[in-house]
Amino acid sequence: SLDVSTLTRQSGLTALDYGFVNTAATKSSITYIDGDQGILRYRGYPIEQLAASSTYLEVAWLLIYGEMPTADQLGEFDEKIRRHTLLHEDLKHFFSALPHTAHPMAVISSALSALSTYYESAADPSDPEQVELTTIRLLAKLPVIAGYAHKKATGQAFLYPDNSLSFVDNFLRLNFGNMAEPYEIDPVLSKALDRLLILHADHEQNASTSTVRLVGSTGANLYASVSAGINALSGPLHGGANEAVLEMLGRIRDSGEGVSKFVERVKNKEEGVKLMGFGHRVYKNYDPRAKIVKESADEVLAQLGVSDPLLDLAKELEQIALEDDYFKERRLYPNVDFYTGVIYKAMGFPTRMFTVLFAIGRLPGWVAHWREMNEDPQTKIGRPQQLYTGSAARDLPQR
Ligand code: ACO
Repeated sequence: SLDVSTLTRQSGLTALDYGFVNTAATKSSITYIDGDQGILRYRGYPIEQLAASSTYLEVAWLLIYGEMPTADQLGEFDEKIRRHTLLHEDLKHFFSALPHTAHPMAVISSALSALSTYYESAADPSDPEQVELTTIRLLAKLPVIAGYAHKKATGQAFLYPDNSLSFVDNFLRLNFGNMAEPYEIDPVLSKALDRLLILHADHEQNASTSTVRLVGSTGANLYASVSAGINALSGPLHGGANEAVLEMLGRIRDSGEGVSKFVERVKNKEEGVKLMGFGHRVYKNYDPRAKIVKESADEVLAQLGVSDPLLDLAKELEQIALEDDYFKERRLYPNVDFYTGVIYKAMGFPTRMFTVLFAIGRLPGWVAHWREMNEDPQTKIGRPQQLYTGSAARDLPQR
């Protein structure tokens, strides 16, 4: 590969690449994707194997530290995360200042910025010990913040974390438990959520991860960088797609227009009509994560005893789209977000929490990339070029 930055600097050329379709901004040893073949590997391990037989915390360790953890390493990591789940009591007042109608993505990104104010002197990017502590604090506290965002939206009391519970069980309790009665963990739900978090844990230089790296390249700390990543993730073309898919399915059902009619409108490129959850910048084949999610959707709904006509609608939509020339020619396949919403809904999460679940899943990836960027001696402040198309030099009119 060419080192374009050196080449273009020397030659005076500037490459114009809208959407960075063909420009690498970094080297990375974290995640490998082959979009033509539908391959995804974290640190060399196939996503299928990780989803089948590892846990989210193991994968978080793998992404951040490069190897699968030993039992001792995992135990220590888990223990440290459990010890850091509590939020400063004052931070609870922050939630009171927001309307209950606030989108939970806006709540968690701003809460994370607010969280950083408690650790200003302990988040120095150049101090490895502080980076380590911040890593743990983020992993421990984001799920609690997310649980509070959910409770805030539903008008229920916040719960303190229960550190006797595993990472995922603690998160489920914070979302679905209440003050009046003990919360019973459903192992099916817990396992399914753990697997979904694994599937979202990293995806190399996507928009939010690139945002985290870009912000981090300025010397900003991990809190600031991850908060920016959450905002990048919130858009409907990125993480927000899981929410948009369910809204789309609901609209198709409510309109009664039928799936084929809707697909026609997509193909006619009617304003604002896209097949959400389809297409990917990198995958020009079936997204391997979507394959796993699709298999889990049936399994999870059956085990939870839920039947959802939206899942049938999603399958019908997929079938019609996959057989249609418009989608074939453009190599558009379901992405990870196409079926996740149906599962999150069956678990009881409101639609507006879906992207928050994505953010919790993606957190280890963001942290791993920020740390890789921070440790790479070749890192420079990110600063894209532009081709100026405005006015030539001119003088203000005489006044
Ligand atoms: N529905 C209908 N047509 C589509 C879709 C779609 N979901 N996605 C792409 N196309 C069409 C485009 O209109 C374009 O057609 P044209 O050549 O006739 O103009 C062609 O396919 C190529 O699309 P691009 O927009 O150039 O593809 P790009 O790589 O820039 O975009 C993206 C990728 C943003 C994911 C796009 O496919 C999309 O908007 N999908 C829907 C939103 C979505 O599901 N996002 C989640 C992505 S995965 C994630 O973040 C976890």
